[in-house]
Amino acid sequence: MAETVLETENLTMRFGGVVAADNVSFRLAARELRCLIGPNGAGKSTFFKCITGLLTPSDGRIFMRHEETTGWHPHEIASLGVGVKTQVPSVMDGLTVRENIWLAARRRHPVVEANRKTADMIERLELNAIAAADVGRLAHGERQQVELGIVAVGDPWLVLLDEPAAGMSAGDVERMVAIIRELNRSAAVIIVEHDMQFIRSIASTVTVFHQGSVLMEDHVDKVMSDETVRRVYLGKKG
Ligand SMILES: Nc1ncnc2c1ncn2[C@@H]1O[C@H](COP(=O)(O)OP(=O)(O)OP(=O)(O)O)[C@@H](O)[C@H]1O
Ligand SMILES: [Mg+2]
Repeated sequence: MAETVLETENLTMRFGGVVAADNVSFRLAARELRCLIGPNGAGKSTFFKCITGLLTPSDGRIFMRHEETTGWHPHEIASLGVGVKTQVPSVMDGLTVRENIWLAARRRHPVVEANRKTADMIERLELNAIAAADVGRLAHGERQQVELGIVAVGDPWLVLLDEPAAGMSAGDVERMVAIIRELNRSAAVIIVEHDMQFIRSIASTVTVFHQGSVLMEDHVDKVMSDETVRRVYLGKKG
């Protein structure tokens, strides 16, 4: 069995009387690609924020590789080699794509190494055509690609993505899937996502959240044809 890189043990998050994450025991293997889905309010973002350190769980424990990270701050988790893309943009308008990626690389490496890493990343993610463009002038889908470049240039072994396909056209989604697959060659990936087209095309194992708990965990095809899942989730979306 592949090494476990992320594990939660009975993770629970309460907000007053609301149990947003309820006793979630979750396990992710090295280089695995996993989507988290579920209806509005199911607890996906809460779970995600507990893992990334934005929230400290009310109960339960979190382990990354072999370290317990329960209660760690986001920057401590990032320094372990965990790359996080939230919906808050991290690109800087007024700078080019190359400059944005270089700045992220420079945070961890000397100049020469940052130059090399930047060039590699632009190549790997096929961003050459937009490398010299001002990020502020890019279309939404392209900005999201740059965001992933910023995450990837830190050489993460775990990448956490919150709704990477939100607001994207079909073509953008296709590019995003290709980029995520590329990242997944060297990192385990967790994606919180609503977009069914995206989840189908990425075709990974899916964890379905419902009322704070894990309702089902299986390959996307099995999940999509499951009656209970259809009722709580797909039924709403058609
Ligand atoms: N900071 C908070 N304070 C109080 N209640 C919260 C807070 N964050 C989330 N909740 C509640 O916890 C539950 C789970 O919310 P969460 O945002 O995790 O769901 P979600 O699965 O991400 O939903 P969506 O698909 O709409 O993004 C909801 O009932 C929500 O109202
Ligand atoms: Mg959410």
